[in-house]
Amino acid sequence: MPSYNLNINNKSYTAEADADMPMVWVLRDLLDLTGTKFGCGVASCGACTVLLNGTAVRSCQLQVQAVGTGKITTIEGLSEDGSHPVQKAWEKINVPQCGYCQSGQIMNVVGLLNTNKQPTEDQISGLMAGNLCRCGTYHRIQEAIHEVIKEVNG
Ligand code: FES
Ligand code: FES
Repeated sequence: MPSYNLNINNKSYTAEADADMPMVWVLRDLLDLTGTKFGCGVASCGACTVLLNGTAVRSCQLQVQAVGTGKITTIEGLSEDGSHPVQKAWEKINVPQCGYCQSGQIMNVVGLLNTNKQPTEDQISGLMAGNLCRCGTYHRIQEAIHEVIKEVNG
């Protein structure tokens, strides 16, 4: 089985995996980074969202062989103590219900803010529309996004 050297959360990891193994399983099953969740497996829910070189991607669709020297960031890599601005906004607004979708929601917002610190309402809605929440926390997610935009823009 091939062996892959991966840069995840600025640390080096080695994973022995089939070339087409989706990163969601590499992270969860091989490297014990279980903050990234599996939902649909077909790019339709966003639960598995991580960053690849700062851009939000669905790790159920990202094969380990495609990562190369790319830098992966998972929810575990945002901060040691929940102090990332997006995590703080989530805590302040008390967003999660069951929590299952929330690491994907947060990573999607981090990816958005990496490219655009002042997204419009339409840009926010367009980007977040693909991240599903069975508990219906959408209103609080929107509120938390506005909170973090306020925070990062001073
Ligand atoms: S598990 Fe990847 S988008 Fe649903
Ligand atoms: S908080 Fe339960 S699925 Fe989103």
